[in-house]
Amino acid sequence: MTKDLLQLTDFSSEEIHRCMSLSAEMKAEVKSGTFRKPLADKAFAMIFHKPSLRTRMSFEVGIAQLGGTPMFVTDAEISLGKRESVHDVAKVLSRYVDGILIRTFSHAQVEELAEHASVPVVNMLTDLTHPCQVMADIFTVYEKKGTIENQVVTYLGDGNNMTNSWLNLARRIPMELRIATNPNTMPDPGLLQAAREEGLSKIVVTDDPREACKGSDVLYTDVWASMGQKDQAGSKADLLQRFQLNQDLLSMAKDDCLVMHCLPAERGREITDEVMDGPNSVVFDEAENRMHAQKGILCMLLENR
Ligand code: CP
Ligand code: NVA
Repeated sequence: MTKDLLQLTDFSSEEIHRCMSLSAEMKAEVKSGTFRKPLADKAFAMIFHKPSLRTRMSFEVGIAQLGGTPMFVTDAEISLGKRESVHDVAKVLSRYVDGILIRTFSHAQVEELAEHASVPVVNMLTDLTHPCQVMADIFTVYEKKGTIENQVVTYLGDGNNMTNSWLNLARRIPMELRIATNPNTMPDPGLLQAAREEGLSKIVVTDDPREACKGSDVLYTDVWASMGQKDQAGSKADLLQRFQLNQDLLSMAKDDCLVMHCLPAERGREITDEVMDGPNSVVFDEAENRMHAQKGILCMLLENR
């Protein structure tokens, strides 16, 4: 059966650990200029229905480094589900390429694409989740802390696709995940319930940001209004102002706490310049690690085929 990465829970705990070592190896190879070409002669369709800096560049450069060919397409070319059905696009693309990568709004559309494709499908962000980002995030924690287990991770702000991705990670890797948000901006209820019921990690949801930050190993935030929701920027800002990642909240965490943000940031809103540019911040390491983590993901998805 074709293996996809639609949500992080498509990977087992062992596979996430394996991705960490593979990504570390490939990162070291890039730094020493000795990288292999395991994706030679492989082609990848990259479908974007939303803007991107990191995802597009890191996948394109990463695939090229591994010897493969990335192909960027937007809705202007294929008009997925309108010019022709998702089923037919999946069937046709599967005849040309070795993997389909997609960033879009509807998670259900990505599932439909994967159902009909005979090559691996990778979610490059939907309204529900962003698994490649959280894999890069946990790889960054692995590099900085030497482990990915039993960290106290506090997510501050909007309960969005990043919060949902951290909930999925907490279903595979034991941690204490604290979500500090407004009761009106909660993450996906189904993923929250699953993470709680499965019980691997301790999941805390609170509207007290100071309490949530106490003793944290990682403080994480993301924009208050995600792509496709920018019309809600004002109302979300009113709801989430207290959850801004600033020096006051950072002072509640451990001294060596990592400050993380998937980027793009709206500086001065969900995070202050002082914190984003301060000594605890690893936001640009996270951005770089998108490329190394995704190379690990692609190699793992393609190796069993
Ligand atoms: N973090 C992230 O996915 O960035 P882009 O939207 O620029 O791809
Ligand atoms: N939650 C953000 C993440 C961007 C990488 C969004 O969906 O816009």
